[in-house]
Amino acid sequence: MKKIAVLNGPNLNRLGKREPDIYGSKTLDDIADELRSDFPEVSFDFFQSNHEGALIDKFSELAESDCDGVIFNPAAYSHTSVALRDAISGAGLPVVEVHISNIHARERFRHHTHTAVVSRGVITGLGTDGYRLAARALLELA
Ligand code: DQA
Repeated sequence: MKKIAVLNGPNLNRLGKREPDIYGSKTLDDIADELRSDFPEVSFDFFQSNHEGALIDKFSELAESDCDGVIFNPAAYSHTSVALRDAISGAGLPVVEVHISNIHARERFRHHTHTAVVSRGVITGLGTDGYRLAARALLELA
């Protein structure tokens, strides 16, 4: 059975309530339910944290596990965190970065992502469907 970790960064614990005009009304639990139902052949490990260090620790843990790939929405840390960039490249796992909104159609400070540079690919602007598309990409390409 394939193992995929789904990591979400800061403020995504409030998905569904937070700025629904930008991020939609689905919660992280809704996304987890959709992934489990669309990919019964995959064992998912879901993790969300508002803390940069906790996300880095999770990458260290995954690097030593039998995880096959990671779906990662680093949220605002994409735009700021060299430490998370290094955690991704150090883990040596295929990562698909997901942004629910189209970061390139938003403020200029969201256009650059440190984490995308070391990711296998990026899905941005396709709403919460991005997570399912990322799972498909990991299964087919990674
Ligand atoms: C986000 C986009 C980021 O710029 C923002 O800071 C987020 C969410 C997205 O999923 O669209 O928190 O990663």
